[in-house]
Amino acid sequence: MTEKDILREKILHFKKERNAIILAHNYQREEVQEIADYTGDSLELSRTAASIECEVIVFCGVNFMAESASILSPDKTVILPEIGACCPMADMITVSSVRHLKTQFPGYHYTGGYRYPADFTLRDIKALHPGVPVVAYVNTTADVKAESDICCTSANGVKIVESLDTDKVICIPDRNLSAWIAKNTKKEVIAWDGFCHVHDRVTPDDVTRARKDHPGAVLIAHPECRIEVSEMADYVTSTSGMIRFAKASDAGEFIIGTETGLLYKLRKDNPDKIFHPLRKDMVCPNMKKTTLSSVFHAMETMTYKIKVPEEIRVPAKRALDRMLEVK
Ligand code: 13P
Ligand code: SF4
Repeated sequence: MTEKDILREKILHFKKERNAIILAHNYQREEVQEIADYTGDSLELSRTAASIECEVIVFCGVNFMAESASILSPDKTVILPEIGACCPMADMITVSSVRHLKTQFPGYHYTGGYRYPADFTLRDIKALHPGVPVVAYVNTTADVKAESDICCTSANGVKIVESLDTDKVICIPDRNLSAWIAKNTKKEVIAWDGFCHVHDRVTPDDVTRARKDHPGAVLIAHPECRIEVSEMADYVTSTSGMIRFAKASDAGEFIIGTETGLLYKLRKDNPDKIFHPLRKDMVCPNMKKTTLSSVFHAMETMTYKIKVPEEIRVPAKRALDRMLEVK
C-alpha cells in the first residue's frame, strides 16, 4: 500500500464515522478530486451544499466557498482543510473602511462599467448609485454578500443580471466578469475593479500564440479572463460549463483558458480528446493548498470549522437564495 492509499482509507473511515461529505472545486488537486463525493463549479457546489444530507461538509476549495456552504446549511459543520486557502479577488472589496474618496472620485468608463480605486468600499459605490441593485459574484466574503441584493457565479452572471427589474446594476468584484456580463446584456453595468490574478494574466498575445501552436483547436475561456481574451475565444463559460461543452463537442482538440486543475477532469472524461492549457502558469496557489494529507488531518481533528455569525449569515443567505431561485 502506498502512503496515498493509506491516507485515502483513513479519510474513508472518518467520512463514515463523521457522516461527512467531501465537496471539491474543479481546480483542486487530482488526488483531492478523486476522494471527493462531488466536484463542480461554484454554482453546482452551492446547490449541493444547500441540499445534501449529512452532518459534516468538508469543503476542498477556498474560504468563500466554505463560507457559502455554512451560510446555506447552518446546521451542518463546515470544515475548510486549509485555513489559509483564500481568494485574493474576494478580498479586493470590503464593506466599509475609508470613505473620504466617495465624493471626490467620479469614476471613469471601462468596457461597459466604471473603475474605482482600491480603497473605495462597497458602501461607497452603493451611496454613489442609490437604488441600484448590487450583484455579488460568489467570490466575495460573507459580509459583502450580506450587503448585496443577489449573488451570481460565472455560470449564471448574465441570467442573474437579466432577472433584475432595473436598467442599471452594480457588479462586484470582478471587472472581467462584469465586462463579459455588460457585453451580453443591454443593462448598464457599473463594475468594481477587482480581478483574479490567475485569469487576468492572460493576454490576447497568449491567445494568438496558442492558436498558432494548436491550429484547429477550440478555445474555451473563463469569464474571469480579460474581455479582449473572452472576445477572441470560441466559447466562454464556467468551469463545469467547459466540462459539459468539451464532452458534447465533436471537436477533438481544445485550448483551455482557466486554472489548469480543470484539465484533470477534462482528460479523464474525454480520453480520446486533447486538451492544452492556454497558459501553463494558470495555477491558483490557494486552490492547490489542499492536499490529501490536509483532508485527512481536517477530518481527524475537525478543523477548521467555518461558521458565519447569524447577523451576517441571514442577509447573505438572502442574496444566495435569490440567486439559487433564478432558473
Ligand atoms: P467556477 O464557478 O467557474 O468554477 O469559478 C470559480 C473560480 O474561482 C474561478 O476562478
Ligand atoms: Fe480566486 Fe482566481 Fe483562485 Fe478562483 S482562481 S479562487 S478567482 S484567485
